[in-house]
This record gives sequence, C-alpha cells and structure tokens, in this order.
Amino acid sequence: KLSPSMMCASFFELAAQTATFEKNGIELLHIDVMDGSFAPNFALGVDFARQLKKNCSIPLDIHLMVREPERHIPSFPIAEGDIVSVHIESTDKPRECIEAIKSRGARAFIVLNPETPTSALSDLLQIIDGVLIMAVNPGFAGQKMLPGTIEKIAETRRLLDEAGREDAEIEVDGNVSIENGIRMRGAGANIFVLGTAALFRGDLEANIHAFRDEVFGS
Ligand code: DX5
Ligand code: ZN
Repeated sequence: KLSPSMMCASFFELAAQTATFEKNGIELLHIDVMDGSFAPNFALGVDFARQLKKNCSIPLDIHLMVREPERHIPSFPIAEGDIVSVHIESTDKPRECIEAIKSRGARAFIVLNPETPTSALSDLLQIIDGVLIMAVNPGFAGQKMLPGTIEKIAETRRLLDEAGREDAEIEVDGNVSIENGIRMRGAGANIFVLGTAALFRGDLEANIHAFRDEVFGS
C-alpha cells in the first residue's frame, strides 16, 4: 500500500494532487501531526485532516508526533478504514490510545523511533493492528535512512509472526526511495510512506507507477 506524505504535497495544487491519487488507486493519505515539542517542527493538524476527509475518498493515515496523544485523538476526524499511529515514546497510556482509536472503528498502529527497540512492543502485540517504523528521526522530510532500519523491520515482522499476528501490518516512514523501498519490502514492510524521496518530485503519476513496478513488481 502507498501512503503519500501530505506535508510534502503542494498546498497550491492540493485538489489536483489528491485527484491524481484517487485516480491511481492510492490506498492511504499520510498526515504528519507535530507539536513542536515531541517533534522539532510543526506540520499538519485537525483542520487539514477534516478538509481531506470531506473532499477526498482515500482513507487517512494519521501519524501523531505529539506529546500526550490521548488528549488529541478525539479531535481528529477518524472513521472506519483509517489508520492512527501513536509513538510509544510519546505516552504512558498506549493502551488508552489504542482503545480510543479502535472505538472509532479505525486501526491502531504503534510507532517506533529509530533508537527505540522492538522490545517496546512486547505488551501490545495482541492489541495493535500494525507497527510504523521510522527510518529517520521525526520532524523533517528529505533525511537519509538511518542504519539498522532494514534489520528492525525484519525483527518486527518476526515478533509479530511469533505472536500469531501475521495479520498485523508494517509501515515505514522516512526516505522511502525506490532503492530503499525494495529492501524494506524484502524485510517485511507492506505500507510505504512516500515523501520527497520517491513521490513529490516531478510527475506524480509516473512516480507512482515507477514505485509500484520496481517495489511490488506490478
Ligand atoms: C518525517 C515525516 C515523513 C517524511 C517522509 O518526520 O514523517 O513523512 O515527510 O518523506 P521523505 O521521503 O522526504 O523522507
Ligand atoms: Zn509520518
């Protein structure tokens, strides 16, 4: 599945870009939410998510990079088919967050920062719908994939499978180029956040086709 990173979209051409995504069967729209504290930047928010929800049929993939996400989940337009991801480092109430997301019919993912070990997932393996692995530190587009990312994807896949969670998905965010995407997919990732590395440069439609051809072989 492809999840374009909407903080990298052109706000001046948003209608045309989302129409291209709908036309090309894009599965999710990745919405980076930052509070300037958990992540050292500001990005998208509740009102932007509401406008996308209202004007576009693609499910939302809301990535919360905020402290105390449990306080903010109720504000977002979350519905069935959407994904909401919460960083394990951002809350001491991960279960409360997961329950709040699921009670709205959406799917709950836990995010791991590059320095966070996969062992942080162990108590939650039975209740999450997926894991979002950061290939870069949260905050800015255009960074380089950090060492250990591919191994971490493989390790997460193994942990989920051993827990009987073959159904749980693995998403990866940051520097998902075609070259990195091939390795990420080989390690077990199946949802790819596309920012500046593979999508928002030149022709969107050609980039979508190129990524699908090279990474999924379809
Ligand atoms: C990083 C953001 C990513 C980023 C990915 O904090 O969460 O979504 O925009 O895009 P590139 O391809 O620029 O790394
Ligand atoms: Zn993100």
